[in-house]
Amino acid sequence: MSSLFDFVSPPDRYAVIGNPIAHSKSPLIHSQFAKQTGQRLNYEAILVDEGGLAQAIGNFQASGGKGLNITVPFKHEAWELMDELSEHAQRAGAVNTILFNPDGRRYGDNTDGIGLVRDILNNHGGRFDNQRILILGAGGAVRGVLGPILKEQPREIVIANRTVDKAVVLAREFAASIPVNACGYSALGSMSFDLIINGTSASLKGELPPLPMNIISEQSWCYDMMYGDKPTVFMEWARENGAAKYHDGLGMLVEQAAESFYLWRNVMPDTTPVIKLLRTN
Ligand code: ATR
Repeated sequence: MSSLFDFVSPPDRYAVIGNPIAHSKSPLIHSQFAKQTGQRLNYEAILVDEGGLAQAIGNFQASGGKGLNITVPFKHEAWELMDELSEHAQRAGAVNTILFNPDGRRYGDNTDGIGLVRDILNNHGGRFDNQRILILGAGGAVRGVLGPILKEQPREIVIANRTVDKAVVLAREFAASIPVNACGYSALGSMSFDLIINGTSASLKGELPPLPMNIISEQSWCYDMMYGDKPTVFMEWARENGAAKYHDGLGMLVEQAAESFYLWRNVMPDTTPVIKLLRTN
């Protein structure tokens, strides 16, 4: 028997904002997480034009939305629109997850670095502690992951970038008890690394930074923060040059989403079946 007061409230609403956004895998990932954990929520993808971010966030919040993911090219702009930032977001200068608090305050977090670290540690059985790590690139993507990587206590980080000045700025900002150094690609000649992470956007264009061969050894692991239907050019390079292991960033995508989901719902989903599903999709 039902009464006037037996009503089911509508599902909580979440979304990802970006441009382009049509091919975003986030709606699929979050709907899988919701199904798996029994959470009632809707998750959509919203295309926003340049200059429209503040309005879009405001509209979503005003219409009762509970939280947002923010992706390219808005992560830095979103950072400027928050009332409160997590430590990771503060250092990253970028926000990829927003939680709207009941009092209306916007909390901005950045889960990209945790996503990368968990993918390498938990899904691939890799390590950061005491490792010599080379990071390629010095843009927003690299700034977003440096803090969480440093927390894992590597021995040393070298940031190499086409525009050396940008690598120098990042290295200065993040160096502390663990050395973080900067250089151009040609200066890498005499060094080899345990873990090489590609954080450039070169893979998106099918390009590869000019990397000397000897930076890789048969113990080296290579990781591309990008992913695609087939192995990226960086992964091909790693294979051809005898890397022990090479992986793309699909697992990072799912892991950063899991951390967002946890922030919003206080439930940690199991990422393994979702990564499997995306691989076969
Ligand atoms: P993102 O937010 O993806 O990091 P970004 O801030 O524009 O985007 O940074 C892109 C990074 O990829 C930069 O490190 C860029 O090098 P420069 O700083 O010298 O521009 C790097 N990059 C892009 N295309 C590249 C290519 N073909 N070869 C080498 N590096 C490349």
